[in-house]
Amino acid sequence: MTKPRVGIIVGSNRRESINRKLAKALANLESERLDFGWIRIDDLPMYNQDLEADRPETVRRFTADVAQYPALLFVTPEHNRSLPAVLKNAIDWGSKPTDQNVWRGRIAAMTGTSFGAIGTAVGQQHLRQILGILGVLVMGGEAYISFRPAPVDDDGHFVDDNKRDFLQAYMDRFAALVTKLVGTS
Ligand SMILES: Cc1cc2nc3c(=O)[nH]c(=O)nc-3n(C[C@H](O)[C@H](O)[C@H](O)COP(=O)(O)O)c2cc1C
Repeated sequence: MTKPRVGIIVGSNRRESINRKLAKALANLESERLDFGWIRIDDLPMYNQDLEADRPETVRRFTADVAQYPALLFVTPEHNRSLPAVLKNAIDWGSKPTDQNVWRGRIAAMTGTSFGAIGTAVGQQHLRQILGILGVLVMGGEAYISFRPAPVDDDGHFVDDNKRDFLQAYMDRFAALVTKLVGTS
């Protein structure tokens, strides 16, 4: 049986990103039901409409990567109570030209972590709104995770049982939704 493919997009370009660590742990949690791959956004140039006539190679690779996945998992920090510019930039590249909007029709779930108690809650609201406008079906519910203390280690294993159980339930719901809408073969 082929598992549905899910592309992970981490909304951070930081080498030691805590969101990337969390994303690794989430992929480990659901690897029996979903086939995860990683979509890179940190090497994309700043969006510039002047580049549309001949899109940079990194941008072509990025949109081709997104197009491979019927479903996406966003794991993102919050910057100044919104989504980080590096993630918004990637979303903007994928949204143009309008008739080739690569986001339309995809299924997504999102989560994120920061050191604050409600960190990423507001950023996720903004992300949810943008993805909705672009035609992504975003799973309901919310999961914003405090990284104080760290719930995962550097290798993508949970060290906090409560957070693992909470996120297991969240990811199980996502796996069920993706399997229902995309199916297995
Ligand atoms: C420009 C900037 C703005 C930030 N704004 C917020 C914020 O609004 N809320 C929050 O919880 N943390 C905020 N932080 C702290 C980040 O959560 C923290 O840097 C975290 O490590 C980012 O995740 P990453 O390691 O995956 O990049 C901000 C950090 C930066 C650099």
